[in-house]
Amino acid sequence: MRSLIAGCGGYLPEKVLRNDDLAAAYGIETSDAWITDRTGIRQRHVAAPGETASSMGAAAARQALERAGLPEAAVDCIIVATSTPDSAFPATAVRIQAELGCGPGFAFDIAAACTGFIYALGMADALLRTGQARCALVIGTEVYTRILDWTDRGTCVLFGDGAGAVVLTAGEGQGTATDRGILSTHLHSDGRFADILHIEGGAGSTGGTGLLRMSGREVFRHAVSKLAAVVDESLAAHGLAQSDVRWLVPHQANLRIIDAMGKKLGLPKERVVVTVDRHANTSAASIPLALADADGRGAIERGDLVLMEAIGGGLTWGAALVRF
Ligand code: COA
Repeated sequence: MRSLIAGCGGYLPEKVLRNDDLAAAYGIETSDAWITDRTGIRQRHVAAPGETASSMGAAAARQALERAGLPEAAVDCIIVATSTPDSAFPATAVRIQAELGCGPGFAFDIAAACTGFIYALGMADALLRTGQARCALVIGTEVYTRILDWTDRGTCVLFGDGAGAVVLTAGEGQGTATDRGILSTHLHSDGRFADILHIEGGAGSTGGTGLLRMSGREVFRHAVSKLAAVVDESLAAHGLAQSDVRWLVPHQANLRIIDAMGKKLGLPKERVVVTVDRHANTSAASIPLALADADGRGAIERGDLVLMEAIGGGLTWGAALVRF
């Protein structure tokens, strides 16, 4: 039994904030040139008042189900990856379950920051393979603009809002002509580095601002080596070569990191899906949004091997190998 990707969807808030607008709107001493040169980011989307992780996640899920040709009622499991839930509980996933009218089934959130979508994919895959669910929605949805310190130019220019979703169905994959579906996920964390990228405070905390804090240089240093290692680990698990990878769908944090991974795999630029220029870093939403972007324009074909990788707060990092 394999978990097959039946459809991908995305949602971006209407409001777009370009780098120059951002500098003007928030009085930040920065420039389009600095941001573009260091990160590749040109703009980000910003949620409107009233838009939440659940409302955006539901919109992305609707598009994914539509593209899969499946009704809401077919979904028996919803996993939401988010660091910006509507509330500590109930889970954002159950809000989405109610909004879409899915069920009967179960829904829950996971917290793995920017690696959240890979973690959620791994959880859903395990549930589908063991028969505990038949059709899962895996959603990444974030409103990071609400947890940014708009006086900290080292972080506030990097993130944006949005949601992405995939529909997974349990089906025959292994042993078929194309050996389709999720081949494996590879998950890692190292809590010793928890403080290099974290949210200060939270629902159960005794202090803190509730805002994002990051040591950018430290994160960058870990990113390149840890992502390279997990890419190697994923391919080695299946005896695959770098040349077998048709598409790299990386977490969209920084174009320099994305380019380094593309180069490592020897992939031409057009086989590396890039949305960071338009979306900025949407944390757990960035990979499913990038998937929806590529799939929406018909770029990924049946049988293509897709490698996804991410790193984020925790530190958490991981990768997923999927044959479409
Ligand atoms: N505009 C203009 N100048 C800025 C700036 C901004 N938005 N942010 C920081 N600077 C300044 C700093 O104040 C510093 O100035 P100083 O030398 O006068 O003190 C200078 O630029 C260098 O700062 P530094 O933080 O060392 O920059 P950097 O080259 O490391 O680039 C990042 C910063 C954040 C772009 C880079 O570290 C990075 O991409 N890290 C990875 C972050 C990431 O991907 N996080 C998400 C992981 S999920």
